[in-house]
Amino acid sequence: MTTALITGSTAGIGAAFARRLAADGHDLVLVARDTARLREQATELHDRHGVEAEVLTADLAEDEGIEAVAARLRDRRDPVDLLINNAGFGNKGRYLDVSMADELRMLKVHCEAVLRLTSAAAETMRERGRGGIVNVASVAAFVPRGTYGASKAWVVQFTQGAARDLAGSGVRLMALCPGFVRTEFHQRAGMGTDNIPGWMWLDADKLVATALADLARGRTLSIPDPRYKVLMGAAKLMPRGVLGGITSRTGRKYGPQ
Ligand SMILES: NC(=O)c1ccc[n+]([C@@H]2O[C@H](COP(=O)([O-])OP(=O)(O)OC[C@H]3O[C@@H](n4cnc5c(N)ncnc54)[C@H](OP(=O)(O)O)[C@@H]3O)[C@@H](O)[C@H]2O)c1
Repeated sequence: MTTALITGSTAGIGAAFARRLAADGHDLVLVARDTARLREQATELHDRHGVEAEVLTADLAEDEGIEAVAARLRDRRDPVDLLINNAGFGNKGRYLDVSMADELRMLKVHCEAVLRLTSAAAETMRERGRGGIVNVASVAAFVPRGTYGASKAWVVQFTQGAARDLAGSGVRLMALCPGFVRTEFHQRAGMGTDNIPGWMWLDADKLVATALADLARGRTLSIPDPRYKVLMGAAKLMPRGVLGGITSRTGRKYGPQ
């Protein structure tokens, strides 16, 4: 039996990872801030799939929360075989409309927590000679898209660089770059979604299936849909100014603060 730890497991993409990994027979460590929701999820996954689901309440915008999850990842008596660094959010507004405290909170969750949790997991995985780490970034990493895109670009660069440094160790690292997925993300960030064309929306369960297949193949970067592979290919050829005009508007309609 193997164990997977998922941050941001209670909603959206993280919940899709939890459903799929439980269905595949993995025990789970479920991480988010809302304990009641985590407990409900753990009971449901245990009852449906017969796996052990541990609840770990942690706020990854706080040192204490990051350290609690890192300590679980360092536990050599009950090792974690697969880490999904998925927790994340968008701030409510464009650059300079968002407070510096909120910008720094996003960097803490998207970058610092990902660095510290990846390192805690990779160290123990390297000792054991096996393990997998998926860091959820975004296609926003490849286009001009505010500080959110910048934080996700860090996730991609960090993950691919670390994967190279750990090549041959048995530890696989992969950056996962989804396009738009219907989750709680946009509502939480106060973003209107009516200017996002229907064909751009991805299904979370299909996305997770493709991501896990890409990890098994040893990919260090997963853009899990042909539509977005084509779009990202086109984006590379487009003048940066034109690209920024399109990508910084689509799906970034903010309501009242
Ligand atoms: N949806 C998209 O279109 C899209 C596209 C590309 C990439 N992504 C990325 O995919 C990841 C998951 O997003 P999603 O769309 O699934 O979002 P979501 O539906 O809003 O779910 C976010 C999850 O993260 C947890 N979370 C948020 N802040 C946290 C914190 N400070 N500490 C611990 N847990 C926290 C939430 O639970 P609690 O509130 O209980 O903590 C929830 O379980 C994010 O990294 C996001 O940037 C999303």
